Amino acid sequence: MRIVMLGTGYVGLVSGACFAEFGMEVVCVDKDAGKIARLQNGEIPIYEPGLDELVRKNSVRQTLSFTTDLAAAMHGAEAVFIAVGTPSRRGDGHADLTYVYDAAKDIAAHIKEYTVVVTKSTVPVGTGREVESIIGKLVPRDMFDVASNPEFLREGSAIGDFMRPDRVVIGTHSKRAEAILKSIYRPLYLIETPVVMCDLETAELAKYAANAFLATKITFINEIADLCEKTGADVQDVARAIGLDGRIGRKFLHAGPGFGGSCFPKDTLALMRTGQENNSPLRIVETVVDVNTKRKKQMAQRVIAACGNDVKGKTIAVLGVTFKPNTDDMRDAPSLDILPLLQQAGAKLRAYDPAGMKEAAAMLPDITWCKDAYDALTGSDAAVLITEWNEFRGLEAEKIAALLNHKILVDLRNVYKPEDMRDAGLQYTRIGESEMKSKPQNALAAIHNLGLVDDEADEEISLEKQAS
Ligand code: UGA
Repeated sequence: MRIVMLGTGYVGLVSGACFAEFGMEVVCVDKDAGKIARLQNGEIPIYEPGLDELVRKNSVRQTLSFTTDLAAAMHGAEAVFIAVGTPSRRGDGHADLTYVYDAAKDIAAHIKEYTVVVTKSTVPVGTGREVESIIGKLVPRDMFDVASNPEFLREGSAIGDFMRPDRVVIGTHSKRAEAILKSIYRPLYLIETPVVMCDLETAELAKYAANAFLATKITFINEIADLCEKTGADVQDVARAIGLDGRIGRKFLHAGPGFGGSCFPKDTLALMRTGQENNSPLRIVETVVDVNTKRKKQMAQRVIAACGNDVKGKTIAVLGVTFKPNTDDMRDAPSLDILPLLQQAGAKLRAYDPAGMKEAAAMLPDITWCKDAYDALTGSDAAVLITEWNEFRGLEAEKIAALLNHKILVDLRNVYKPEDMRDAGLQYTRIGESEMKSKPQNALAAIHNLGLVDDEADEEISLEKQAS
């Protein structure tokens, strides 16, 4: 079966390569001639583990090809997937659907035989109906159907997510379109992947609901982390304790500097707008957006506090700048909020990221980019870990301590064992760890705040401290 993937961004390229791997004949189309020329030469424009190999292999066996010519690509194709960008619209944060509707018009101009037009881009509920109406103005109604097939892959593990998804969601009102999509996904039926068949609107909304729910889960644990810091609890253990409850689940309970990336920030905002427009406000999602936006900025203050509330003239090593590991994507990365604030407070920055430095250099000026983590640490006063790349997990605590002038390490992803870091002489702080452990001198104040001790007990602790 021949299918067309319109748009060669993350979703389009990964989906196209994976469908080709399933044995489909896939033609990827993009208006960007330079990008298509590079793809034809085997150059992959994004960093995604395993993608280059998949593209190369399927290009060689001719199941995957790239072109700017939509008319030629659509010749004999049974389905065309729209996988163009839906960025946040300037001003109101709603999804900008210009590219989707332009794609619908382009596709309509080339429909010569029955075609299923499938939106894979994340689009607000109602978009499929609009696509249907745009195409319906140019093409007889029995020549096409519209479906929604949202994608749930994560950057950094996109191939695995596509090949072994938790589920596939297909929304359409047409039995004919349903049959074609089922045959496209046949390899996943064979591994018993659950398939949710539903209507267009449901599929569209399910995608936003999934992302908003995950973003809410992260924001929830981030706020619990803040409370842990004030009360003597540890968020790592709280997350484990609640995550083992099957109803809650352990995934996406990792406290950190706030979610970023190309999806959660944009999609929570767009869903919030959809709720407002439909007079059905999503107050939880609105709060998530607000809490997360503020949190990313608060992270800079955390670093400044760890440095004795003064970073003027100090050099800070930055480990990781991308929004998550295994990607070079800088979109809405927490580092974009944190690092300029550190610079405004007078800090000089030495940064290293395994894949994102090229992207980041254009967005983050006046940073010394280093050749590896130890290079960034050399001669710095303090360090902050922003992205949990695997190569940072293996750094030696003693070496970090030896390289840092003031031995201050702020871990915004909780990758290290606090004992290891403190035994090496580092002043180590992480997310959601009781201040009583990270800064023993704060123990008294924190216990006092909780009202757990009376003044006498307070005195006893104070005397004990003096004795030790
Ligand atoms: C997300 C969803 O996970 C995918 O299912 C979805 O298909 C995709 O958006 C999309 O809509 O296209 P992605 O943005 O690639 O995928 O990355 P995630 O792994 O979900 O991470 C998003 C952000 O949440 C990152 O900043 C990450 O650091 C943060 N995060 C994630 C946490 O802070 N804690 C966690 O426990 C998990």
